Amino acid sequence: MPATLIVNARLVNEGREFDADLLVENGRIARIDGQIAARPGDQVIEAGGRWLLPGMIDDQVHFREPGLTHKGDIASESAAAVAGGLTSFMDMPNTNPPTLDAAALEAKYALAKGRAWGNYGFYFGASNDNLDNIRTLDPKAAPGVKVFMGASTGNMLVDDPDILDGIFREAPTPIITHCEDTPTIDANMAAFKAKYGDALTAEMHPDIRSREACIKSTRLATSLARKHGSRLHVLHVSTADELALFTPGPLFQADGRRKRITAETCIHFLRFDRADYATLGNLIKCNPAIKDAGDREALVKALASDVLDVLATDHAPHTLEEKEKPYAQAPSGLPLVQYALVAALELVHEKKLKLAQVVQKFAHAPAQLFDVKGRGFLREGYAADLVLIDHDPFTVKREDVLGKCGWSPFEGRTFQHRVAATWVNGRMVWNGEQLVGTPVGQRLEFDR
Ligand code: DOR
Repeated sequence: MPATLIVNARLVNEGREFDADLLVENGRIARIDGQIAARPGDQVIEAGGRWLLPGMIDDQVHFREPGLTHKGDIASESAAAVAGGLTSFMDMPNTNPPTLDAAALEAKYALAKGRAWGNYGFYFGASNDNLDNIRTLDPKAAPGVKVFMGASTGNMLVDDPDILDGIFREAPTPIITHCEDTPTIDANMAAFKAKYGDALTAEMHPDIRSREACIKSTRLATSLARKHGSRLHVLHVSTADELALFTPGPLFQADGRRKRITAETCIHFLRFDRADYATLGNLIKCNPAIKDAGDREALVKALASDVLDVLATDHAPHTLEEKEKPYAQAPSGLPLVQYALVAALELVHEKKLKLAQVVQKFAHAPAQLFDVKGRGFLREGYAADLVLIDHDPFTVKREDVLGKCGWSPFEGRTFQHRVAATWVNGRMVWNGEQLVGTPVGQRLEFDR
């Protein structure tokens, strides 16, 4: 592979923005310097002052393979991800079959080999009856153990208190949780049905999948983690109220110790709110629900002040046909990977987040929290997973959507920045217009 030399870029890394050249050799970042002279044979890319970031690492996606491939698959969804500047992904276990044992986990890695455009990790799933499998899980085989502490797509609810206690006591990897209290949601649903019969609408979703359900479950997760000293990562925080359950501060304390309880929010909670159900309806129905404008603003501030540690997508594609069903039957989840980074950069444009904070939350932090080896930073010797960002506004159009479900909740929105190029393991895979080359994603390694 010829070396690639990216010149005159504005690098964004580890809290700093600076002008530099970056040399890629053999899939890795070989050198970062003020000026690097091109050698014969080097492929030179003129960045012209555009931003060069480490590729984003999405710690929460549903790429639907195996078993749900009419909605998406590893090839289609990872293609959309690299077009959006996301170069690594960690995929959820609520597939068919669900990922509940080592054989199912390895089968997923086998499915991704040679087909994933980005680098891949697969979570191990918890159920009410696989504690033995969790106990014996090889900690290097999965980023973490996913626990549905609230029922959602798939039947993976863990609600046996003894099993939950056992998971928090014994999991050999970080525990990552979906926190929504199912009995609270069931009671809300029963009350809404009694009142409205079949006339339920998407506007009711944030009151059925209510903030109280989120708070109750997140409180339980954090108390179990405190009791056992577990490494807990709470996924997709959607309310202002839950924020008090997390400790503000950087991932690493002065003595080098890492935060034990961390939390993630997702791009849709930062870009949509209750008012959007009127126009988007079931398209933005997801679990947990998108809530109020006040929650949205509090979540952005919580990212900026390090109460929340990670930004992710929870990319969860469903077909338009499925989404067009009445509210109660329409599945929850929305496709997000292709436009999540440019949507996050709107927050920079609006001066609500700093550019370096987006990189921290969407690339550095997931790498550090999950012990990802050699990725997530612009550092010499690290994998050349890179994204070049152009300052060139564009409007999202349905025909440009690469994911299999073929729609985006952002259609018609204009973003100030676009992804001009993406490299995975040193190979350009997105040239700003289309995919190039072949899938070169590698299995993520967890250095623990
Ligand atoms: O909205 C959601 N969709 N939330 C989940 O927890 C699951 C996901 C899916 O798989 O569709």
